[in-house]
Amino acid sequence: MGTGGAARPPARARHQRVDWVGVFGERPGEQPPLEPSRLLCPVCRNPGPDRPPYACPACGELLELVHPAPPVRGAALRARLAARPPARHDPRTTSGVWRFSELIAPGLEPAAAVSQREGNTPLYESRALAAFAGLARPLLLKHEGMNPTGSFKDRGMTVGVSRAVALGARAVACASTGNTAASLAAYAALGGLRALVLVPAGGVAPGKLAQALAYGARCIEVEGSFDTALALLERAAAELPLYVLNSVNPWRIEGQKTIVLEALAELDWQPPDAIALPAGNLGNTSAFGKALAEAQALGLIERLPRLLPVQAEGAAPFHRMLERGAAELEPEPEPRTVASAIRIGRPRSWRRAARAVRRTGGRSAAVSDAEILEAKAAIDAAGLGCEPASAAALAGLRRLVAAGAVPASARVLCVLTGHLLKDPATTLDYHAGPEPGPRANRPVRVPAEPAALLALVERELERG
Ligand SMILES: Cc1ncc(COP(=O)(O)O)c(C=O)c1O
Repeated sequence: MGTGGAARPPARARHQRVDWVGVFGERPGEQPPLEPSRLLCPVCRNPGPDRPPYACPACGELLELVHPAPPVRGAALRARLAARPPARHDPRTTSGVWRFSELIAPGLEPAAAVSQREGNTPLYESRALAAFAGLARPLLLKHEGMNPTGSFKDRGMTVGVSRAVALGARAVACASTGNTAASLAAYAALGGLRALVLVPAGGVAPGKLAQALAYGARCIEVEGSFDTALALLERAAAELPLYVLNSVNPWRIEGQKTIVLEALAELDWQPPDAIALPAGNLGNTSAFGKALAEAQALGLIERLPRLLPVQAEGAAPFHRMLERGAAELEPEPEPRTVASAIRIGRPRSWRRAARAVRRTGGRSAAVSDAEILEAKAAIDAAGLGCEPASAAALAGLRRLVAAGAVPASARVLCVLTGHLLKDPATTLDYHAGPEPGPRANRPVRVPAEPAALLALVERELERG
């Protein structure tokens, strides 16, 4: 033993006693400071270290970043955020995330950010989808599927991967229902880091797996659910030099806050009455709650919109907990839904998401797969398009309006979290599968003869 020189100890032993900073760094001890930000427990305000599991040493709650107040507030801060100097290569002007750098990561240098112009997503207004939901005023839709890799995950990933690079990390990793994997793979490639993604075998939409493979991540298919994959990854990361970029990572949450900040800025800081969004691991619900609380504290907005997180009925432990008024979340051991992105039974951020719903006077909802697919067909047919999980937000909003929990006169913002092309299999199955949905647009086939095509087109035109 030990005489050959070339023999290397197993990875486990090599890394076991190494300090977390040294583990990543070619440059131990050179961890970039967290200041001016601090990591605090949002419940008992205890400080905690910037490393996994990002949990309060006293009560176990997930830690959150707290930044110093910017030098100005209210109207002066609104003006400052609106007037970024034009500079083609400065992420503060090109990125809808880094534009808010002082509110999300004041200690990270925007010029060094791993960024690909994420954010700046379209904000639509739709009367047709308002009618679908039962609302009298046009529905606002923020299309996060228009981010570089086709989902909102890019907003958190640009911050998380930038932090990883600043720390000297070599490898980043996540467990994922698909979109986090695609986003992490792209940003890791951009930042020159190795990427490992754990996905539930057979449980990821093809567009997402194709992206993760194409961007060069090592894709590990776990024989189990997302929840199993995340638990496995966390065990591995406790011993190996991996920077975990699931939404337990507080830097991800900071980036995702900008969905709300950007929408508020576009609405001249006049908040809608409510914000509907799909909910899985509840990172986004937590990020929205944090963004809103901070925006109010900084005088950017005067009142809080109600948060309306929506789960799929077969994966709705959070909704069930809120409905029952229970103090603890009871995980769903076998989460099931057609919306694979939110097929999650043990959401990690449930505590902070519950605080966000409570603080904003919000409501949750759970919807069936049939409702999700019908809402998706309506969003797609409106020309906007989204993946199934995103449509849960509209389906849930429709339920809440029908139940009187959201008044028909409300001005509501609905967040479309992922692009239609992420999950072409589900869309094709709905329209052209053996059991097409009620709003299916079935393809028609004609023989290769001019008369047949003419007759068909004539019939089409007569339909008006
Ligand atoms: C398209 C889409 N919508 C919604 C969600 C749920 O977000 P969260 O896990 O932050 O609740 C995800 C998560 O993967 C997603 O990919």
